[in-house]
Amino acid sequence: MSENILSKLEDGIFYVTINRVDKKNAITNEMYVELVDAINEYEANDDARGLLLSGDKMCFTAGNDMVGFLENPPVDDNSESPTFLRTISLAKKPLLAAVNGPIVGIGATMLMHFDFVYAGESAKFNMPFCNLGICPEGGTTLLLPQVIGHKKACELIMFGESFDAQTAKECGFINDFFADDEYLDKLIAKAKRLAKQPAPSIRLTKHMLKKHHAPAMVDALYYEGSEIRRSLKTPESREAMSAFAEKRRPDFSRFK
Ligand code: COA
Repeated sequence: MSENILSKLEDGIFYVTINRVDKKNAITNEMYVELVDAINEYEANDDARGLLLSGDKMCFTAGNDMVGFLENPPVDDNSESPTFLRTISLAKKPLLAAVNGPIVGIGATMLMHFDFVYAGESAKFNMPFCNLGICPEGGTTLLLPQVIGHKKACELIMFGESFDAQTAKECGFINDFFADDEYLDKLIAKAKRLAKQPAPSIRLTKHMLKKHHAPAMVDALYYEGSEIRRSLKTPESREAMSAFAEKRRPDFSRFK
């Protein structure tokens, strides 16, 4: 495993940390593969009773690596990012996430597949898909309207409006939020409690809670996957990604 994704098992908790701080923890294809490997290792280990994903204390992740979007976009359902999204969506054991600072794109959408999410008070959630000329992924079109309703989902995605930890808690996007120097410890305490619960009952409950939506989720992941692959080839998305790389504002005026 590279230094960009760290993992360790301690006291029944499988800790996974995104560690690419100089690039705001933007996730590359290689990192998706490592995340999938870590989740599979967790699922296979009976001593691991909760996976806790975190980033830097003040930055969860700036989402998909923008250079990767330009140079190595997903080509099919078995590409790195769709495989990662399917893996978290199908995980049988509990997934917990501790997030703070920028939580962008897939960094936000992945959280809808987690069972417990605690944020720091400086969390800033953002799903700027339309700002980038692309479309939502990760089951967002199914899960987000369920969590916050259609109209709010339009605001957040069509305008890429960011929202804070308070809003995220009020609308059920996260479980709770705490001071920046407390949120991770609070989630570790929660994970330790979870690790003492009867594992078969926890697994069965997770299965039951997700079972009814599982077929629709499979459809959503494949449908969104094919649309995002298509949209990543459009001139408007190339303009958005190039603008980011060149540190300028994108100009969408020529796209009808
Ligand atoms: N992909 C690749 N590199 C990224 C990145 C991303 N998603 N997000 C940030 N970086 C890089 C920057 O290019 C910069 O690299 P440099 O130092 O070599 O120039 C470094 O990380 C620091 O980013 P910077 O923008 O200077 O930090 P900031 O604190 O001012 O802003 C963000 C943080 C997250 C608000 C801003 O970086 C951002 O908007 N990133 C893009 C998020 C995004 O649109 N993701 C895709 C969603 S689908």
